[in-house]
Amino acid sequence: MGGQPERRTQTPLAIRVEGCARTFPDGVRALDRVDLDIRAGETLALLGPSGCGKTTLLRLIAGLDHPDPGGRILFDGEDVTALPIERRRVGMVFQSYALFPNMSVAANVAYGLKIQGMAPDMRRARVTEMLEMMRIAPLADRAIDQLSGGQRQRVALARAIAPRPRLLLLDEPLTALDAKLRDALRVEIDQLLRALGTTALYVTHDQAEAMALGDRVVVMTHGRIAQIGTPYEIYHRPAGRFVADFVGLMNRIRGTLSGDGVRCPGGIVPLAAAGPSHRPAGARRPGDGAPVEIQFRPEDAVVAAPGQGHVRGTVTASFFLGDRVRILVEGVGTTPLTVETGGRIDPLTDATLAAGAPIELRIQSAPLAPEGEA
Ligand SMILES: Nc1ncnc2c1ncn2[C@@H]1O[C@H](COP(=O)(O)OP(=O)(O)OP(=O)(O)O)[C@@H](O)[C@H]1O
Ligand SMILES: [Mg+2]
Repeated sequence: MGGQPERRTQTPLAIRVEGCARTFPDGVRALDRVDLDIRAGETLALLGPSGCGKTTLLRLIAGLDHPDPGGRILFDGEDVTALPIERRRVGMVFQSYALFPNMSVAANVAYGLKIQGMAPDMRRARVTEMLEMMRIAPLADRAIDQLSGGQRQRVALARAIAPRPRLLLLDEPLTALDAKLRDALRVEIDQLLRALGTTALYVTHDQAEAMALGDRVVVMTHGRIAQIGTPYEIYHRPAGRFVADFVGLMNRIRGTLSGDGVRCPGGIVPLAAAGPSHRPAGARRPGDGAPVEIQFRPEDAVVAAPGQGHVRGTVTASFFLGDRVRILVEGVGTTPLTVETGGRIDPLTDATLAAGAPIELRIQSAPLAPEGEA
């Protein structure tokens, strides 16, 4: 362990979670035999709804809790399942800061270094370096309760990275902050993780955050992993219905195959729009009249001039969201569609977007899936 001023931490660590289940004494099975590899140096975003087991998994990796018998945690191939947290060299940042309120900012950041037995002058240098990195150097002598939420979160980050952990575990670190600050800190965390090169697991239930920060994203549900992939794969090639609906919004139209299109109540969506690459790998094209379901994201449909659309429906509501306008359309499929278009239309004054107005859509991308699948 040295106090060298270089920013990189240790050689990044590769983590393997093998067959890890966690059943609590009251019988709740929070994790269901999870297998997961975290590559050395990557930021893995762990995304899933409340209660799906994210924190439980994080605590197993940290060593704050232990898996049911049979589960193993490996750090660079070494079995650490029985090692307590203080021997795993991990840094953690929690949603609730978990700072020492009666200590100054500098003392909070120095705490882990002191525990490590680092000499006082080296400690001071490291604390200064961390506070500068997180741009809170002027706050060094402040008490924690005199800081804003964003400043506290910076202290928590500085404290976690000061001992140069081999692995950083972040559990919804930005949830307590307002949207603007969250965006700003998210960018900073991204830069920080890249500069440090540390392997990191970032837990969130915010899909935008997971996509922005994760080299790969793990989507969890009910104690299991539903999909692991790059943000692009998760969004555009969701492994199933749960992922498709949890990560963004997915429209579905049920219809029947008809020549080069899919016939639905609102018209015919040409399959050329879908493109063969959207077909599930290895799937054969079903025959005419076969029930199929097409899927598309809100931004994959455009409002067309009368007579120019693939399908025709009725506007049920529209909302101005600033950067875009969201339009709800019924009558095309069996369930209402959500379509989004650029923000230069005011739905309050534009009669074409008033409730009850007819609307035509061109659907630009429509992955074809046999009905009931995907
Ligand atoms: N100590 C415990 N004893 C019993 N059940 C627990 C315990 N800790 C968590 N659970 C249960 O395990 C499940 C997973 O909890 P966990 O905290 O991992 O969820 P999470 O994905 O982190 O959710 P959130 O997004 O709300 O933080 C939940 O059903 C929860 O109620
Ligand atoms: Mg949690």
